[in-house]
Amino acid sequence: MDFYEAVSRRRTVRQFLRKEVDPEAIRRILEAGNSAPTWNHNRNWSYVVLRTEEEKEFAFGYAKRFAEKFDADKYLNGYRPYPITLAQRMYGHAVPLQYTMLRDAPYVIIPVFKGASVKVEFLSKFNPLATIWCVIENIFLATAAEGLGCSMRIPMEDEHDEVKAKLKVPPTYMIPAFIGIGYADPREELPEQNRADLAKQVHYGRWK
Ligand SMILES: Cc1cc2nc3c(=O)[nH]c(=O)nc-3n(C[C@H](O)[C@H](O)[C@H](O)COP(=O)(O)O)c2cc1C
Repeated sequence: MDFYEAVSRRRTVRQFLRKEVDPEAIRRILEAGNSAPTWNHNRNWSYVVLRTEEEKEFAFGYAKRFAEKFDADKYLNGYRPYPITLAQRMYGHAVPLQYTMLRDAPYVIIPVFKGASVKVEFLSKFNPLATIWCVIENIFLATAAEGLGCSMRIPMEDEHDEVKAKLKVPPTYMIPAFIGIGYADPREELPEQNRADLAKQVHYGRWK
């Protein structure tokens, strides 16, 4: 697939078909992750890969509780003193799916990077986190090029340490995201997205 076609096909998928994924495609996707730029020249991240329903159920208890306690109907249709925004609609669509979009993905990839804290005083100290997000974007684009889709969940609050302990990830590593990979279910109803407007974003020479 052409690169720009993969870029435009990539979207966040939260509903998957129950259809096997070729392990070779997953290997190619992870190789694409490994081609990402790296701040320290070491490429010393790793991947935890979950495949069975038991593994996913064990790992994602927090996401399940979070999704189940969310009242989407109240959130989307309850009284608001102003019209609901596109971002709020997206949130109302996404939250109830935070667990099933991982459980129903045939593969869940959990990239882990070396780091113990993200409390930093200089922007450059975010480099380990920035690097793993380069890895993640390569994974997203390679997944799109394979004709597959990705869900992504960023661990919230205590969820990070909970999943890290359950999966026995060493203390010197952190988890930036959980990535489900599988065939997108075309029946997922996607809320409208905000579109960025290049004409307003680009400032030649200086901010105008
Ligand atoms: C840093 C970051 C964090 C995100 N966190 C979540 C998340 O926790 N759960 C989720 O369902 N989607 C998450 N998303 C996906 C966004 O909701 C999605 O990218 C956005 O709505 C744009 O849609 P698109 O990816 O289909 O273009 C995250 C995206 C980014 C870049």
